[in-house]
Parts: sequence; C-alpha cells; structure tokens
Amino acid sequence: VPTLLITGANRGIGLELTRLYAADGWTIHACCRYPDKAAALKALDGEILLHRLDVTDGLRVASFARELSGERIDLLINNAGIYGPRTGFGETDYDEWLSVLKTNTLAPLRMAERFADHVVRSDRKCIAMISSIMGSVGSNSSGGAYIYRSSKAALNAVSKSLSVDLAERGITVVMFHPGWVQTDMGGSGADIDAETSAAGIHGVLGRVTTQDNGHFFNYDGTKLPW
Ligand SMILES: NC(=O)c1ccc[n+]([C@@H]2O[C@H](COP(=O)([O-])OP(=O)(O)OC[C@H]3O[C@@H](n4cnc5c(N)ncnc54)[C@H](OP(=O)(O)O)[C@@H]3O)[C@@H](O)[C@H]2O)c1
Repeated sequence: VPTLLITGANRGIGLELTRLYAADGWTIHACCRYPDKAAALKALDGEILLHRLDVTDGLRVASFARELSGERIDLLINNAGIYGPRTGFGETDYDEWLSVLKTNTLAPLRMAERFADHVVRSDRKCIAMISSIMGSVGSNSSGGAYIYRSSKAALNAVSKSLSVDLAERGITVVMFHPGWVQTDMGGSGADIDAETSAAGIHGVLGRVTTQDNGHFFNYDGTKLPW
C-alpha cells in the first residue's frame, strides 16, 4: 500500500487531497497544526494517521522525520501555505514577509531535506509542491502581492533545484498551481471548488513519471510558465 505524507491536511485543498488518497486505500500521514480542532479531517474514512506539525518548527520537523525513520513515503505533498497581509506598494510589512517566506518557501525545502530518505525508499518517489501561478514571473501582469508572489516564486526556484539534485536518487519533484480555489485563502468568489482542484492534482500525480521532474503544472495538467 502506498503512503502519502501531506501538510496542512485539516482544511481546504489539503483536506480534499487527503480524502482522495484515503479513498484510494493509501496510508496517510496527515499533518496539521492543531489536531484537536481538525474535526473534518478526523471524520474522513481510511488509514489516516494524524500528526501535529507546524511546518515552520524545524526541531519538530526533524523529530517527526526521526519518528518515521525506516518508513517509506511514496508521495510527499507540501501543501501548507499562507497568503500573508494583503497590502499594496508602500505598505509592506517586512516582518510579516519573513514569516510568509518561512511557511511557503523555507518549510517545503526543510520537509524535503528531512524526508528525502523516506521518499527514496518508496516505489513512487515523488515530492509535490503546492505552489501558485502567483509565483510565475512570466505571467505577472497585475503586479502587487509582493509577499505572496515572492514566496511562491522562490518556492519554484527551490523546487527546480531540488528536482535536479534529487534526480540521481530517482525522486521526481513537481510543482502545482491548484487553480483559484474556493477555500479560506481563495475566498468564496474563486473559480473552482476544492474538490475539483484536488481531483485535478490527484489525476496529474497519478500519471507523473520521471520525465515530468522539475515541471510546473496547472491542476488540469497543462504546463505553466515560470
Ligand atoms: N486557494 C487558492 O486559490 C490557492 C491558489 C494558489 C495556491 N494555493 C496554495 O494552495 C495551498 C493550500 O491552500 P488552501 O487554499 O487550501 O488554503 P487554506 O484553506 O487557507 O488552508 C491552508 C492550510 O495550510 C495550513 N498551514 C498554514 N500555515 C501552516 C503552518 N505553519 N504549519 C502547518 N500548516 C500550516 C493551514 O493550517 P491551519 O488550519 O492550522 O491554519 C491549512 O491547513 C497553499 O500552499 C496555497 O498557497 C491556493
């Protein structure tokens, strides 16, 4: 039975991805900051093991990796993310910027560094990053969103390097834009619901091969510009 390790599994896109892999019969290490409050996650059927994990807590990530040492992780999905303050030019909060970078950029690399050995041991050997089209420099025509955009652009740069560095160990690293999704982050006016987004990502991940290493996908499988 394949194993998924996913962050931010308690709501939004992470919750829907967890639901889909649980329905597939996978074993899931579902991580969230506050398991006590994760009612929707706890209500899911399947082989779901809950873990308390704030992805910015480096010591906790390291101890969690040790707890799972010797286990196989077929798929690591770095999903946890924050938008940060919605401020415009002239209003930038630099401390908040650093905390967004810690969550969206530093934490996914730390997870990959700590769990690469677990992934290498598995059959599928895949790491997926839930990034955003907002991190695409080539498609930025609306400006603003300095904090969120830079955190996801940097995540893409980090993930591309990871894909190169881990290729020799047989690991495939892919990035996703999940769509503009009706979640707490995306708001109710977004284009698609979390079920549609997760189903798309789940479908693409089911077809991923080593040929896709280092690619940036939309949730529907089309390739996106850097
Ligand atoms: N929604 C969109 O339109 C959209 C578009 C592009 C990209 N994305 C990306 O998709 C991913 C999921 O977003 P979403 O729309 O599902 O957002 P969401 O509903 O706001 O959920 C965010 C998830 O991330 C978790 N999280 C935040 N900081 C964390 C931390 N330090 N440690 C552990 N977990 C943490 C949250 O946990 P808590 O419940 O504890 O806060 C929650 O589970 C994010 O990376 C986001 O940037 C979303």
